[in-house]
Amino acid sequence: MGIEFFTRLPLHGETEYLAGDPRNRGDWSKVDGVENTGAVSNYDVGDDFSYIDYLSQIARAAEINGFGGALMVNAPTGEEPWTVCSLLARETKKLNYVTAFQPYHFSPFNAVQSAATYQRATGNRLVWNIINGGSEVLQQQIGDSIPHDERYDRASEFLDVVKGFWANDSFHYKGKYYSAEGGGLKHPLNKAQLPIICTAGSSIAAREFAAKHADYYLMRAERPDEIAELIADMRQRAAKYGRENIKFGMSVDTIARRTEQEALDEAQRFLDEAAEKQRLNIGAAHAGLRSARMLSFENEYSEKKGSTNVHDFFIHKNVWSGFGYIGIPPGVALVGSYDQIIERVKEYNDIGIDLFFLAGYPHLEEAYRLGEYVLPYFKAQREALHPLIASKQYDIAL
Ligand SMILES: Cc1cc2nc3c(=O)[nH]c(=O)nc-3n(C[C@H](O)[C@H](O)[C@H](O)COP(=O)(O)O)c2cc1C
Repeated sequence: MGIEFFTRLPLHGETEYLAGDPRNRGDWSKVDGVENTGAVSNYDVGDDFSYIDYLSQIARAAEINGFGGALMVNAPTGEEPWTVCSLLARETKKLNYVTAFQPYHFSPFNAVQSAATYQRATGNRLVWNIINGGSEVLQQQIGDSIPHDERYDRASEFLDVVKGFWANDSFHYKGKYYSAEGGGLKHPLNKAQLPIICTAGSSIAAREFAAKHADYYLMRAERPDEIAELIADMRQRAAKYGRENIKFGMSVDTIARRTEQEALDEAQRFLDEAAEKQRLNIGAAHAGLRSARMLSFENEYSEKKGSTNVHDFFIHKNVWSGFGYIGIPPGVALVGSYDQIIERVKEYNDIGIDLFFLAGYPHLEEAYRLGEYVLPYFKAQREALHPLIASKQYDIAL
């Protein structure tokens, strides 16, 4: 089967050291009253260099090293991803950018028009990750009071309307959340391709939404048998909508080094630093990435409470849940020698993962390590992302 590699850009700061450490690059780690040693600038708006210049360096490194794209996480505490995609698109030649957004953030027509402009300017290099908010508290903070499952109903309508506007220059729709009376993309905006659609979430509502709409269903790393189970469930659900071709992506960090021992030492360094800063067991990832379903490795943290032994957090060979334990999303990393990372990628690929989002710390250096030692192994097998349905086939005018 095919395989493709994207990386992830750190929109909430570089975290080679735990978040907020003044040794990290950029102003996300600026600590009041402490001299930063991390690179970039003096952190004033209008400086010659800003954090976006560092993100641009990572994007260029990803492209030079053969990654096909870059994922941007959307959190209210990070840089806004679609804007960052726009800022970086013209600094790279081929890299695809995945922006995450909630239907709540935009009207369907605004999303369609923005995407069409972007696609025309970049040669269809935008991918959408449709998110729906994993935390009720965060949703309410930004003014969205619709409950969890209903947000997926709204998202489903949102995409029906988006696809309708994209494929028709006069689209009519009357739904519970949205309506349209004759709007739609016209020449030349309608020459662009609808972005490839990704989505995630393991609640039943999220799975049904993905089954109906997603080109790629995204997951956080778990044990291979757990991923295989999720894939089987999703294939069944998608088949109900006649969508047997749904594809699967997985986001996982890496600590890829020349030897296994070097990788273990680096993982241990994170745990030691977390112990020193009393950040052990603060829970997996940030709230937005959490799922309604607790993943089994998250449940197991309570048995490990207080541990600083790197070996306690392996949930499968080279698959390490220590990042979640100290609060670094997405929570799981492949830790090992370059050959071992290749073995694990092959194992997950064999059970159905087509698209890997791999990133490590610092992001710039890890892009080179992966690009020089891991990605070349898969050269012959690489397959670019493609939408499952040509955008012009959408015709759901009601
Ligand atoms: C690869 C991946 C990327 C994600 N990116 C984001 C993101 O950028 N912003 C966000 O709020 N949630 C993100 N999520 C979280 C999911 O979209 C979803 O909201 C969460 O898993 C809760 O879903 P559930 O409660 O329906 O299971 C991501 C999840 C995965 C697996």
